[in-house]
Amino acid sequence: MVTNMGLAWWQSGIVYQVYPRSFQDANGDGVGDLRGVARRLGHLQALGVDALWLSPIYPSPMADFGYDIADYTGIDPLFGTMEDFDALIAQAHGLGLRLILDFVPNHTSDRHPWFLESASSLRSPKRDWYLWRDPAPDGGPPNNWLSNFGGPGWTLNERTGQYYYHSFLPQQPDLNWRNPAVVAAMHDALRFWLKRGVDGFRVDVMWMMIKDDRFRDNPPNPDYHPGGSSHDRLLPLYTADRPEVHEVVAGLRSVLDEFGDRVLIGEIYLPIDRLVTYYGPHLNEAQLPFNFQLLLMSGWSAETIARIITDYEGALPPGGWPNWVLGNHDRPRIASRIGRAQARMAAMLLLTLRGTPTIYYGEEIGMADVAIPPDEVQDPAEKREPGKGLGRDPERTPMPWDASAGHGFTTAKPWLPFGAQEADVVAEAADPQSMLNLYRGLIALRKTSPALLHGETEGVHVEGTVLSYERRAPEQHLAVHLNLGEAAQTVTVKPGRILFSSGLHHDAVASPLTLAAAEGVVVVIEKL
Ligand code: GLC
Repeated sequence: MVTNMGLAWWQSGIVYQVYPRSFQDANGDGVGDLRGVARRLGHLQALGVDALWLSPIYPSPMADFGYDIADYTGIDPLFGTMEDFDALIAQAHGLGLRLILDFVPNHTSDRHPWFLESASSLRSPKRDWYLWRDPAPDGGPPNNWLSNFGGPGWTLNERTGQYYYHSFLPQQPDLNWRNPAVVAAMHDALRFWLKRGVDGFRVDVMWMMIKDDRFRDNPPNPDYHPGGSSHDRLLPLYTADRPEVHEVVAGLRSVLDEFGDRVLIGEIYLPIDRLVTYYGPHLNEAQLPFNFQLLLMSGWSAETIARIITDYEGALPPGGWPNWVLGNHDRPRIASRIGRAQARMAAMLLLTLRGTPTIYYGEEIGMADVAIPPDEVQDPAEKREPGKGLGRDPERTPMPWDASAGHGFTTAKPWLPFGAQEADVVAEAADPQSMLNLYRGLIALRKTSPALLHGETEGVHVEGTVLSYERRAPEQHLAVHLNLGEAAQTVTVKPGRILFSSGLHHDAVASPLTLAAAEGVVVVIEKL
């Protein structure tokens, strides 16, 4: 269904990711829950976002904090009940907010009844639901495939004498998506939630869902640096981005299409040319294959970002809708990567580029990573490969809502600590120059700006430390100038009127324009 200026809701809208453990605790156990999320929907409304994506809330032993699912059609008691979920979706829809769930189809928990059944015997009717192989002649793993969390990708099941493959933890066995019964069961799980009114899914590790059917060894990675994740020792040639994955993704999409007006978002860490294949040959796969270019880039330079914008726009298939992401629950927060001042420029970039923006909770108050003392580490990625900086707890800490002891998040000890110098939502709301008010202003601008919503991107260029681009729709022509440097920079601009400024800039713009360090403006280019 087309809503705003000829766009679908997931094109004109803004997605906001909630990591449910850390958003709001309503029952006083130190861990966020669904009733907590419901209590904070007003914040999302005031911010102006359109869709809420919840990281997994399904029953789980929590070996990977919910990304190990033991029941695809339930709610973990830690987060609440199905009644709480139904109440949340009703409340969200009542406020005009869409609800997107996380779907984790690559693997289940090792406690999922399907895996318990599969592992019980070589002749189990569900044996082929997972990837079982005989040991190598020496008794070791069947091939050299590695776990993304360190160590071998294979674990021996003593009872049956075979190994099973897990892209992640041994507690996360990979499903066999070549088995039609698996496909049917997973499609039914999607339908269960779609019938309850869920507006879409963010699909976990979409590009990994199918592995080589001949189980060939992965080749060594010539660029491997020993300091990095041990998984990177090999190139994942046979364990990810296989040609057959596209049929699987198209299958997921066809289930969503049965219900109409829903969105399929894919978590895909691939170079741009590979990423865009996940739109599908007929735009029949993911509507939004996550574009992580701004989250993966090292450094923060105008040249690099200009290249990313141009390469990405140039690679999109006809009709493929772009999207942009600054952060998520797996990567260091933007304010820690580039500093709080430049995080304001990142916000301007995110909200003025063409395509759907996704905001990770806390970005709107400039939340930074929190250093976790060794005895409080929770994340298996850190526990399995300590000291390599792979742990994800720092970007998963609780949302500070106010300055009280539990920061309005909890009355108990939070599951992860708060940072020392936290900005909080109440203080940010009161300060006109705050990050929160920058976000609110940009979002309000975007909602009413034809050029920002559906205009083309043109004239991407760099002058000194300033990144500039134009957004042009028939109704409106804008220029965006962002100083990504640490000193003032003077640039040549087209004359116009300031529509939005991150700083104190005035009404009219004439060339040359001097922008302070980390200052950005959106200018309406006057027709001559
Ligand atoms: C995805 C998730 C991450 C999880 C992994 C395994 O990358 O975002 O948090 O650990 O998949 O499910």
